[in-house]
Amino acid sequence: MTNSSQTPASAPAAVSTKAAVVEVDDITAGYLPGVNILTKCSLTAYDGELIGIIGPNGAGKSTLLKSIFGLVKVREGQIRLRGDDITNLKANKLVTKGVGFVPQTENVFPTLTIQENLEMGIFQKPKGLSERLEFVTEIFPELKKRLGQRAGSLSGGERQMVAMSRALMMGPHVLLLDEPSAGLSPVRQDEAFLRVKEINKAGVTTIMVEQNARRCLQICDRGYVLDQGHDAYTGTGRELLNDPKVIGLYLGTLGQDDD
Ligand SMILES: Nc1ncnc2c1ncn2[C@@H]1O[C@H](COP(=O)(O)OP(=O)(O)OP(=O)(O)O)[C@@H](O)[C@H]1O
Ligand SMILES: [Mg+2]
Repeated sequence: MTNSSQTPASAPAAVSTKAAVVEVDDITAGYLPGVNILTKCSLTAYDGELIGIIGPNGAGKSTLLKSIFGLVKVREGQIRLRGDDITNLKANKLVTKGVGFVPQTENVFPTLTIQENLEMGIFQKPKGLSERLEFVTEIFPELKKRLGQRAGSLSGGERQMVAMSRALMMGPHVLLLDEPSAGLSPVRQDEAFLRVKEINKAGVTTIMVEQNARRCLQICDRGYVLDQGHDAYTGTGRELLNDPKVIGLYLGTLGQDDD
């Protein structure tokens, strides 16, 4: 549970009428026997929210997303999707339940074309291909003219677009994004955040890990600060941006909310 003076994760005032979509309830998880990376870590995403997860390198941000997506063993606690227990459910099952995941690295098949990458994203439901292609190329029109190009020849920003598009091909209700702005120029980062916002506005509950903490907190509805595998603070993006503890520990002077 979060040790925070901020609004508790269980009942955020701004979204109190919405249903919980993803609930991570005090989980302990890790890769190697006897080594826990996450310890009593909790997070709730309400319907339609954009949730940001920030924290220092090695805090367990990627591990948290991978735990939700069934890629890291959860040893204690529970993860629920719309109230159903999905703890340790395999990734392919989660995809059919409407969860999409874009990993931090190696998130495209470089030897495949953009079109083939997108087809990989919907191999479990191939009949929906043309409709979903239309949806993702509306959000990422740059990809439309280049469907035959190999993903390995794309820039970092373009690869991110392909990776996000692939995750969107199954029409997920929940999208887990691990550092969508990593490695991009400032202009491209802004663009990536706009696209994330657009996807979220289309009704996709989004949980985004970001190293660009300030930008992340500016656009998310609520944020979580992870520290040593635990949710140390939570609140609205604005609350966290202005919280002296969060500024001091994680944001530095960049944390000043000057909007
Ligand atoms: N496949 C793995 N096997 C064993 N340990 C791992 C593995 N992946 C990550 N870890 C360890 O888990 C801890 C948390 O890593 P994680 O990748 O979740 O951090 P992070 O917060 O995403 O960091 P970053 O900001 O650098 O992406 C680290 O100590 C890391 O070394
Ligand atoms: Mg990471």
